[in-house]
Parts: sequence; structure tokens; C-alpha cells
Amino acid sequence: MTEFKQRIFSGVQPSGNLTLGNYLGAIRNWVALQRIYESIFCVVDLHAITVWQDPETLRDATREVAAGLIACGIDPAECIIFNQSQVPGHAELAWIFNCVARMGWLNRMTQFKEKAGKNRERASVGLYVYPDLMAADIMLYKATHVPVGADQKQHLELTRDIAQKFNSDYGVDFFPLVEPLILKDTGRVMSLRDGSAKMSKSDPSENSRINLTDDRDTIAKKIRKARTDSEPIPSDLPGLEGRPEAKNLINIFAALSDQAGEDICKEYGGQGFAAFKKDLAELSVSVLGPITQEMKRLCDEKTFVDQVLKEGSEKAGAISEPILKTVHNIVGFLQ
Ligand code: AMP
Ligand code: TRP
Repeated sequence: MTEFKQRIFSGVQPSGNLTLGNYLGAIRNWVALQRIYESIFCVVDLHAITVWQDPETLRDATREVAAGLIACGIDPAECIIFNQSQVPGHAELAWIFNCVARMGWLNRMTQFKEKAGKNRERASVGLYVYPDLMAADIMLYKATHVPVGADQKQHLELTRDIAQKFNSDYGVDFFPLVEPLILKDTGRVMSLRDGSAKMSKSDPSENSRINLTDDRDTIAKKIRKARTDSEPIPSDLPGLEGRPEAKNLINIFAALSDQAGEDICKEYGGQGFAAFKKDLAELSVSVLGPITQEMKRLCDEKTFVDQVLKEGSEKAGAISEPILKTVHNIVGFLQ
């Protein structure tokens, strides 16, 4: 009997360095899921240009992010890794979804509000319809599960709304309703400088994040400088309530060491943060060091990375073309 694998799709923007947030919130989960699901991972360059990207920097970042995924353990022999602009179907299905999604739905998207800020009139139109493109990414492969960080939950709800409206408008049962896969404790890794903001590639403060390209000294320095409060570490999890910075560091420690947060609290409870931070820096270096090294090696092998992306886009195209063809037929375009 052939085993039926459900399909996952996920994406990451080449808009800067991969961060510890990307790793603990998403990529680590992709590695764990890649052998359970048929897996498609995309470097989403069309999403990246919704805010200005210097062309040469974008090209380098696309390769670097692809190298990062492989260095983290995504296996190109097992999964599809490709960059979005190489499969034209993404932009095409996004247009169809622009005509399915309602303005009112997009007006509710919190990520647009955050990214556009006060200057909404000057945000790109692409930034506004970005969630339609994300829905298209997923539905172009009829993916059933999407492993992401918690910040993407609202976009996945929109994806379900679009799929449902498409199915009901056209009287078909074509697009599946996706299930988000979000990790409980690391679905939202916070900034090292501000426990109320997520760790992000685009935060102007370098000290707010750990990049997968950071060296040992930089990691140690950023962790040493990480904001905490003046209370000692609590000896149980409830003691972390109302202490977002401390909670974030404990969650990071727990995830990197594969331990329960409760055990970390037991071990360090009652102490200040100095010894804990020293151990956290060591731990981070021991987990991230080999990834950084492999990423650097792969970045020097441009042709290998380009080949992985090229083969990935061919495989992605082979899955998506018949799906897009059926969509054309459903919508009423001539074949
Ligand atoms: P992005 O860097 O925005 O393209 O995000 C790529 C993936 O990493 C998405 O699934 C995000 O939800 C996830 N991610 C990004 N930043 C964080 C964070 N600080 N904590 C948890 N997950 C994150
Ligand atoms: N919007 C996602 C982010 O910023 C990236 C993304 C684009 C994505 N398309 C996707 C994630 C499809 C999952 C599925 O993090």
C-alpha cells in the first residue's frame, strides 16, 4: 500500500538574515515534519519586495536563506526547496485571489497595520494584498498543513476564508482548508531588547535578535545585553507571568536544550541572570555554531544552492501547473 502523506507548505522571506526566531518558531519544526509530510519550502522573494529591497542584496539574501534552510537540516533530497519568483503560478493565483478576497478582510490584517505604520497612504499596494499572495502560495499546491510562527495565524485564517469563498462562489469542493501548525512555547520568540515585540529580521536594533550568521562572541554579547528585570529567576513557570523578558529567555533555553521550561526554572530558580545568561550563550553557540558553519560553507557554493533552487522550482512547477490549470477551468478561462 502506498503511504498517503499530507502536504505542508511554508515560506520565509529573504529580507535579511535568518534569526533565532525563524529557527525556533518555524524552521526547526520544518526539519521535524519533513519526513512525515510531503514538504515544500519556499524562499518568498515576491513577498520580500512588498517593502524596498536592493536588487543585489535580495539576490544574495535569497541564496543565503536557501543555504540557511539546508544548514538547519532541511534535506533537498527529501523536500522541495525553491524560490517563489521561479514559479509564475504564485503571482497568477494571487491575482485570482485578489478578486475573491474582500477589502474588509484585508483591512483587518494586523501585520499590514504594523508594517505600514502611520504612513499607510505611502505603503505599497503589494504590502496590502500580501496575504492574498500567501494564500495563493499555499493553495497553489493544495497544501493541507502550514507550519509557521504565531504571527502568521491571522494570515492562515484568511487563507481558509479565501478557499471557502472560492469553493462556494464556484460551487466546487476544490481547495482544502489549511491547518496551522504552531509550536506552543516558541511560536513567538520575543526581541532580546523588548519583551513585548517579536524578534524580527527587520528590527533596527541588531542587539534585539540573534542571527544564524552571528559568531560566538556576538551571540555571547547579545545574550549578556539581553534585557531582564531586577527579580531573581523564579523556581516555577507561574512565576514567569508578567515577566515577558525572563519568560522569553527561559523559553529559548528550554527549546535549545530540549528541556521543559519548568526544569530550567527549577535549576536556576532563586539566582540572578548572570550565570543563566552565561550558560544560555554557551548553549546557543553549541546549537547554532554548526549551523552557521555549514551555512557559510554552502554560501561559498553558489552553484550548489542555485541548482537546488532550480530543481526545486521544476518540481514545484510540476505539482502546481495541473492545479492552476483546473483553477482556470473552474473560473471560466479558455484552456
Ligand atoms: P519571516 O522571517 O517573517 O519570513 O518568517 C518566516 C517564518 O518564521 C514564519 O513562519 C514566521 O512566523 C516565523 N517567525 C519569524 N519570526 C519569529 C519569531 N520571532 N518567533 C517565532 N517565529 C517567528
Ligand atoms: N508571510 C510569511 C512571513 O512573513 C511568509 C510566507 C509567505 C508564508 N508565504 C507563505 C508562510 C506561505 C507560510 C505559507 O513569515
